[in-house]
Amino acid sequence: MTSVKHFLDLNRFDTQQLRAILDYGTKLKSGEIPGRPLEGKSLAMIFEKPSTRTRVSFEVGISQLGGDAVLLDSSSTQMEQGESIADTARVLSRFVDAIMIRTSSESILHELAEYASVPVINGLTDESHPCQLMADIMTYEEHRGSIAGKTVTWCGDGNNVATSWIHAAVRFGFHLKLATPAELPPNQAVLDWAKAEGGKITVTRSVEEAATDSDCIVTDTWVSMGDTDAANRHNLLKPYQVDQRVMGLAKPDALFMHCLPAHRGEEVTEEVIDGPQSVVFDEAGNRLHAQKGIMYWCMSK
Ligand code: CP
Ligand code: NVA
Repeated sequence: MTSVKHFLDLNRFDTQQLRAILDYGTKLKSGEIPGRPLEGKSLAMIFEKPSTRTRVSFEVGISQLGGDAVLLDSSSTQMEQGESIADTARVLSRFVDAIMIRTSSESILHELAEYASVPVINGLTDESHPCQLMADIMTYEEHRGSIAGKTVTWCGDGNNVATSWIHAAVRFGFHLKLATPAELPPNQAVLDWAKAEGGKITVTRSVEEAATDSDCIVTDTWVSMGDTDAANRHNLLKPYQVDQRVMGLAKPDALFMHCLPAHRGEEVTEEVIDGPQSVVFDEAGNRLHAQKGIMYWCMSK
């Protein structure tokens, strides 16, 4: 079977592997891994959804490692005209050394990985966002030391980023408390997986219960790319806004995190996201370093 080093989801790795990939990112950031270790390598980037951070951090990242990026806006490729994912995977594998894809459907990601003979990296699907979590763990630990044994609170939609936080909680050994409305719960299959793995995950409707004594408060947009029920989501998620009162329930040195893009006055108040506990721009900046670690792991021998 294949030994291609895909980066599809955090639950496919063990703790040691994730720590090693994160460590590559940290060492590339500090210069401890020097030079341009991916000289001459190429990365194809397929975007079926919009992006600012993922697009720029992968493109700049591969360039800093010595390689090149090729951007494929899916609407201008033959995929849009009906060329299969399998054929696209086989063809791109002959041109590039890795493929990053942002797509709605997890099945497209998995099909691409099945037929590609080069590594495939998940740049977000409707189901998960693992690259984001690598940057988030790096950021938390730069500010507060090891996340193992800490408590992190998720407020809001039980969405793709929430799923990757659940995967991360299990693999990096922290307690994740998710406060979500009954209508927008975290993915049940992912919760079942976390339970089977012995993860410490709490799901509640109560922001107060989730935020009290937490080390880190996290939220995300109320309306993810592709969601069509914005008005309903605004109604359901209004009580889950992270404001100063919610931050006040957490530990005094708690961090505030958000993958961005943010909507001030919706999922988070301006006071919190622009306040002293917020590390959201460090998180965004660490997308570059965490993904350099991922690409280094995927693409070097
Ligand atoms: N957080 C994140 O993935 O941002 P982009 O949608 O801008 O890539
Ligand atoms: N949950 C958001 C994350 C954006 C980075 C979305 O999928 O749109």
